[in-house]
Amino acid sequence: MQVNLLVDKQGPTISKYIYGQFAEHLGRCIYEGVWIGTDSDIPNENGIRKDVVNALKEIQIPVVRWPGGCFADEYHWKDGIGPIENRSTIVNTHWGGVTENNHFGTHEFFELIRQLDCEAYINGNVGSGTVQEMQEWVEYMTMNGESPMANLRRQNGQEEAWKVAFFGVGNESWGCGGNMRPEYYADLYRRYQTYVRKYGEHNIYKIACGANVDDYNWTEVLMKNAARFMDGISLHHYSIPTRVWQDKGDAVNFPEEQWYSVLEHAQYMDELITKHSTIMDKYDPEKRVGLIVDEWGAWYNVEPGTNPGFLYQQNTIRDAMLAAITLNIFHKHADRVHMANIAQMVNVLQAMLLTEGEKMIKTPTYHVFDLYKHHQDAELVDSYGDESNHVTYTASKKDGKLTVSLCNYDLTETREITLSREKGEFEIVEAEYITADTMNAHNTFEEPEAVAKKEFTSYIVEKGTLKVTLPPMSVASIITKEN
Ligand code: AHR
Repeated sequence: MQVNLLVDKQGPTISKYIYGQFAEHLGRCIYEGVWIGTDSDIPNENGIRKDVVNALKEIQIPVVRWPGGCFADEYHWKDGIGPIENRSTIVNTHWGGVTENNHFGTHEFFELIRQLDCEAYINGNVGSGTVQEMQEWVEYMTMNGESPMANLRRQNGQEEAWKVAFFGVGNESWGCGGNMRPEYYADLYRRYQTYVRKYGEHNIYKIACGANVDDYNWTEVLMKNAARFMDGISLHHYSIPTRVWQDKGDAVNFPEEQWYSVLEHAQYMDELITKHSTIMDKYDPEKRVGLIVDEWGAWYNVEPGTNPGFLYQQNTIRDAMLAAITLNIFHKHADRVHMANIAQMVNVLQAMLLTEGEKMIKTPTYHVFDLYKHHQDAELVDSYGDESNHVTYTASKKDGKLTVSLCNYDLTETREITLSREKGEFEIVEAEYITADTMNAHNTFEEPEAVAKKEFTSYIVEKGTLKVTLPPMSVASIITKEN
């Protein structure tokens, strides 16, 4: 396979927010995965796991979406403020019917954001919340001067207002967030977003609830009626090997055909973005409004013996391929995709990290986010060349470096890829990869490094070309000097 890199041509910036995370009050994501409380024996800072924060900082996560998901539309933020022992409990009806004690609330979330040194994406409640409730939450979080909500925040121990970079007005309003029709939601969106006011110095990027997968009519109606009131519109698409919700397929013990079927389903993201974006172009030819893919990833049957409502699944080298394929698609659409949030950050669906008591492991997906972090806020480098089956890639440049990431998701075939640049030489700075010998290789608490990042050496640099030999089931990132 031959790839010619047009290094001098100007391309769009790959927003770092494409590497966003999603953390919902679902199963063991927030509780156990992030929040363990200040009395825990597990090392924590202000109740938040240190191992999890340190691991996430290594991959430079830029933003976390919270508190849901479906949970967002039944979350009443005032339940989660004030002294922890006085907080009221609710039932998490969507996710296992468990009792939610609201110990992790607004203050704890912003403590997490502080520790991660990233941005906050708050998802508001339209489904079962009022306009007043949403307005007051925004005032509580972002108002620095004198006001009832700012004073309440101070009473609860937080003097300075926080920064809310992104705010979602409802989640899946076509489904768990209220079963609305697009016409009805478009009007509600216009109304609710009016009160997502700018109290502080920072603008809040407002996100309308967008389509479920290929519901193009939803995008059409929202863009037609509400585009001028939004900065972004969301899109959700999960990859399922069988396409059957009742039996999605096993995360680890899957047949060979499910390797390819789930990766094919992931590639549907390209068509979805293209088609939704084409509709958006009609109303927003300047591409001011971002397509925010705030839920994506693989969804399998839960691990045997675990609560079906907790969505706990293992993560194999197959998921690493899925992550690389999807990130490459997002990069390609960098002009329209302003943010994406993989579902979910810890212990739920296609997670970065899994925890068990005091133990924590990094998943193969985590390692792809690590290998790909060099593309955050980098300029996309255009390219042309032959197509090759089962290979996908991205090239980008930033800070005097050119990074090429390549994924060979073939199960058996090694691929030879020759990269060339119009002028200048390839001067290697660093090259790393992940791979495995079996298609269901994964990390466990007993063997946490079964799939881990290693130095990549299977390349030859020759006058203006870089010849890469990429083994099956592998993802590599090669950083060179831009020169
Ligand atoms: O990520 C799990 C769930 O999937 C979210 O809560 C919901 O928005 C989606 O249906």
